Amino acid sequence: MDFSVENLIKAASAAREGAYAPYSGFKVGAAILTTEGHCYTGCNIENASYGLSCCAERVALFKAVSNGERDFEAVAVTSGTDGYCAPCGACRQVLAEFNPAMKVYMVNKQGEYRLLTVAELLPVAFALKKYSQ
Ligand code: THU
Repeated sequence: MDFSVENLIKAASAAREGAYAPYSGFKVGAAILTTEGHCYTGCNIENASYGLSCCAERVALFKAVSNGERDFEAVAVTSGTDGYCAPCGACRQVLAEFNPAMKVYMVNKQGEYRLLTVAELLPVAFALKKYSQ
């Protein structure tokens, strides 16, 4: 990829600064890379009605999709913690919609990462086309 993994991780870390997480105090940043080399970032945005909160990964993906992007090759996610930040189940399903083979870099506060694909994180994802007659 043109955009290096290091740059994707830096973009995710920078995006984390924008997190609005007054309820959990857990700030997350994400950066998603298109196959053409465009990068879109997101942070988690919480709400007083907790269930309306949105994860960093979905904010980044929705920004990209709303800009006309459809093809993604990688996403980096960081919570600036000792542990590697793994996407929640809802985000895995939303990422799988666009590319189950997408690489997911789960990053810790040292900038080290674990790498798995969306399909590895969410085997047997729901896809409507599997049920068409
Ligand atoms: N969160 C994310 O933004 N991404 C993840 O991968 C895990 C969880 C957010 C949701 C909520 O705002 C906070 O982290 C605590 O769950």
